[in-house]
Amino acid sequence: MRVLITGGSGFVGRRLCERLLARGDRVDVVSRSPSKAARTLPGECQVRDSAMGSIETPPEAIVNLAGESIAGKRWSETQKKRLLASRVEATTTLVEFCRAIEKTGKPLPTVMVSGSAMGYYGDQGSRVVDEQTPPHAEFAHRLCAQWEAAAEPVTALGVRLALLRTGLVLDADGGTLAKMLPPFKFGLGGRFGDGRQFMPWVHRDDLVEAILYLIDQPSLEGPFNGSAPHPVTNAEFTRTLARQLHRPALFPVPAFALKAGLGEMSRLLLTGADMRPARLQGAGFDFRYPTLEDALKEILADA
Ligand SMILES: NC(=O)c1ccc[n+]([C@@H]2O[C@H](COP(=O)([O-])OP(=O)(O)OC[C@H]3O[C@@H](n4cnc5c(N)ncnc54)[C@H](OP(=O)(O)O)[C@@H]3O)[C@@H](O)[C@H]2O)c1
Repeated sequence: MRVLITGGSGFVGRRLCERLLARGDRVDVVSRSPSKAARTLPGECQVRDSAMGSIETPPEAIVNLAGESIAGKRWSETQKKRLLASRVEATTTLVEFCRAIEKTGKPLPTVMVSGSAMGYYGDQGSRVVDEQTPPHAEFAHRLCAQWEAAAEPVTALGVRLALLRTGLVLDADGGTLAKMLPPFKFGLGGRFGDGRQFMPWVHRDDLVEAILYLIDQPSLEGPFNGSAPHPVTNAEFTRTLARQLHRPALFPVPAFALKAGLGEMSRLLLTGADMRPARLQGAGFDFRYPTLEDALKEILADA
């Protein structure tokens, strides 16, 4: 199968490309900087600056992961617009790409797996959250809701749409864990605020397998929580990481310091949702790393 990926040069996308190639699929990556992206991707990937470059040989599946980094910069009004616009524009371009394929008379992709995030639900306190849980209104929710809504029009073209509300993706060479490891390795780690906020997490390999599952299973559509079945609070995450590194975690970061330093973006660290992958599990998807102990053991073995 030919699969087109936006954001294929990213932390999740790179592993997805490797996995697709390993199972014999062909991979087209859309990147803002094709030559830079090509240097980090396997040589078999076709890297282009626009999805339209694939119009002659349309993909059978699309995976949409592109977006400005959510934790890269403080959430000023300008940065919030950038976070939103980067996702909505990348997604809308894919819808237009599908319309353009339809006009050529060539077969449309059968499925689009489009990114979203746990932020869809906003701050949920200690409530157990599945795909039916009503969201809490805040910026993260608006961002994810608009990102999801931008993908919705592909369904009118007959393209199956699966929306992946991803939790914190864990692996050693990127994402949040790569930032947390140095202080924790020096015994300088600690919980954020009171540590009671939930951190739904997922091993990067499980997330990639979930994307393949959503591509392959023809009946799966709508929103899917992309996080492991056993989420933990920030305090449990901190304890588990410190224990696996054989280090203490004695340096909590007070909520007021995070709020002062990060502004509204501190909500990424101080709030969360006890998000469960109800629909993925209901559809028969098996997590290779269901507990944080399992995931960190595998990740830290080579770190
Ligand atoms: N990692 C996590 O813990 C996590 C959790 C929840 C949700 N997500 C979401 O899942 C998606 C993939 O995550 P990831 O960790 O792989 O992200 P990532 O490493 O930041 O990669 C995202 C890719 O999007 C492209 N991109 C960056 N800024 C952009 C912009 N302003 N406009 C258009 N494209 C832009 C980049 O590709 P080029 O430079 O090649 O164009 C980049 O490689 C992201 O949308 C992310 O928000 C991730």
